[in-house]
Amino acid sequence: MHRIVLSSLAAATLAIASIAQSAPLIIKVSHVVAENTPKGQAALKFKELAEKKLPGKVQIQVFPSSQLFGDGKEMEALLLGDVQVIAPSLSKFDRYTKKLQLFDLPFLFNNIAAVDHFQQSKAGKELLDSMRSKGIKGLAYWHNGMKQLSTDKDQLRVPEDIRGLKFRIQASDVLEAQFRAVGANPQKMAFSEVYQALQTGVVDGQENTWSNIYSQKFHEVQKTIAETNHGVIDYMVITNAKWWDSLAPDIRKGLQEAMDEATEYGNGIANQFNERDKKRIADAHKAKIQELSKDDLAKWRKAMEPVWKKFEPAIGRDLIQAAQKSNG
Ligand code: LMR
Repeated sequence: MHRIVLSSLAAATLAIASIAQSAPLIIKVSHVVAENTPKGQAALKFKELAEKKLPGKVQIQVFPSSQLFGDGKEMEALLLGDVQVIAPSLSKFDRYTKKLQLFDLPFLFNNIAAVDHFQQSKAGKELLDSMRSKGIKGLAYWHNGMKQLSTDKDQLRVPEDIRGLKFRIQASDVLEAQFRAVGANPQKMAFSEVYQALQTGVVDGQENTWSNIYSQKFHEVQKTIAETNHGVIDYMVITNAKWWDSLAPDIRKGLQEAMDEATEYGNGIANQFNERDKKRIADAHKAKIQELSKDDLAKWRKAMEPVWKKFEPAIGRDLIQAAQKSNG
């Protein structure tokens, strides 16, 4: 009798152990944009590739549209181990490193190709490790695109047109200074709250990429979108360094490969998605797209110039010069 109980206990223990051994590692990926965007698609590609490369070993759960964690919460959640991979915009790292403020300097990069060139350079790659002391490891850069300005006014061509207007900005001191430089009133706000803030007039305008404007329907609650291309929204895909280092080597290798391939895929479609969504916005005939002349753009550039001086000491002149070189 004793022996039967013991042996069935042993069998049960073995069964539990083997289930535990074969249970896939659950990896949560959280982001704030819609699925039909460059970041949304790159995240899904990462899931597909990681699960293919590590069959039965990992299960990737992707949560788009701030469903799991929104701005303000996702970074802490990553450090607490409640989510394993997030991809915040490079504008949202102010609290963790000042180096990444570089990417918010107005009119620093001419286009996404220049941004890419810099990110792949030695200086760019080193920035992936700039938050190691805070427990954050950068895995990759993901592209979105260049930013455009929008307001609920008919006239939006030169800096004077936004003087006194309220703008939603991401949690970035550089962006705050950028809007103050042109006499506007910036307000830091989570991405998930922007549509309603625009709709109810809490703010008059915002800056974002075509794909974010379209997928969030901002063009339905704005009158004019000026094609300024004055800055960039790109992402750093990050993970909890301690968690990453604790992974079995084969899992870590598979995940890094999946990340590299998903990055190539996502970065390959980003421009196309933004062009597609610009066209969709034009076709929707809700907000007017205002093209700007060279002279108009020069006025924006000049008005925003003081921002560079203000942040140069924190970012570092060398880094700014390295980034400028990427424009070719
Ligand atoms: C924003 O807050 O406007 C963007 O950073 C959202 C995003 O992740 O693209």
